[in-house]
Amino acid sequence: MAHIPRTSALTRSLTRSLASLNHAPPAGKSPTAIVMLNMGGPSTVPETYDFLRNLFSDGDLIPLPFQSVLAPLIARRRTPQIEQQYTDIGGGSPILRYTNIQGERMAALLDELSPETAPHKHYVAFRYARPLTDETARQMKEDGVKRAVAFTQYPQYSCSTTGSSLNELYRRGKAGEVGDVEWSVIDRWGTHSGFVEAVAQNIERALAKFPESTRSDVVLLFSAHSLPMSVVNRGDPYVLEVSASVSAVMDRLGHSNPYRLVWQSQVGPSAWMGMQTGEALKGLARLGRKQVVLVPIAFTSDHIETLYELDLEYAKEAKEHGVDVHRAESLNDSPVFIRALADLAAAHLKEVSLGRAGYASTQMGLRCPGCTNATCGQQKAWFARGGR
Ligand code: FES
Repeated sequence: MAHIPRTSALTRSLTRSLASLNHAPPAGKSPTAIVMLNMGGPSTVPETYDFLRNLFSDGDLIPLPFQSVLAPLIARRRTPQIEQQYTDIGGGSPILRYTNIQGERMAALLDELSPETAPHKHYVAFRYARPLTDETARQMKEDGVKRAVAFTQYPQYSCSTTGSSLNELYRRGKAGEVGDVEWSVIDRWGTHSGFVEAVAQNIERALAKFPESTRSDVVLLFSAHSLPMSVVNRGDPYVLEVSASVSAVMDRLGHSNPYRLVWQSQVGPSAWMGMQTGEALKGLARLGRKQVVLVPIAFTSDHIETLYELDLEYAKEAKEHGVDVHRAESLNDSPVFIRALADLAAAHLKEVSLGRAGYASTQMGLRCPGCTNATCGQQKAWFARGGR
């Protein structure tokens, strides 16, 4: 085990801050990289077109015929409307800001929890917005990273989200863009006790806004990003894993309230997983259930689906139907959540280093029964060998 010099918390924190400012690890030892995977969002309104073009170019998320031709056209057509939505939520997506806060604090905690793998450094690899995976790969190579954890920031696994990010990371890694790195993967954690606790605490804070006399009647409406039924029917595990998260949160709350899991952000004419969040709110209003807490269960920080869709569209519509609706906060900079991220990463590093767990989970090795994507198989085999 490497000798770790005793330093004060302030010195360690300053060292880390300077290291991240200079984009370089502390002298002498390459950092253990914790690569936070997510879809990302445009940090400023003018980045919206590039974000949409990258999104519609991703065949793992939205398979399109003639994708490279159609993607820019669809992105161009949708840009004005989405730009307006980002303007309405304050001029861009806060996802990068929150991911950096989460990552920096997680890395600091990890240095304490897992000194044998210190120093730790977080990297952000977004799928559709900067920093994109290729940019992050270059930075890791420059930092001389030798050991890295691909840590999905989607708590529940879907081939169209985490799977897509891992496919992209595999392509970059295989091409040698990251350097000679030993990889392992944290691919899903939707029932981790720290995550569940953080969500439950935010629900309790939202419930406290209702009068005590009627609080136990408030309906908890868990809302997750929907999926096309073609993906669900292929055998994608996301719907079941989101259900497991909801079940774990309700167990933690002692089943204090009625609840339902509903789905948001459906686009296009094809069938998607339902029922839709907006329809559920209207249905509850019709039934006279006029107190609701909306709970984002598949997002770990605010972005357009919470700040625009839930807060500005659905909540406004519900209020017009006389429903008193509050949204549970997203996890954002929740210390309970950040501690959960650090605990997850520390346990993973330990299990892998002791040989008690493989580089990737057994579940990750499974392919959807209806999968026809050759990259999925190659990617899973590559990560199972530690990225070699
Ligand atoms: Fe699920 Fe390929 S689409 S493993």
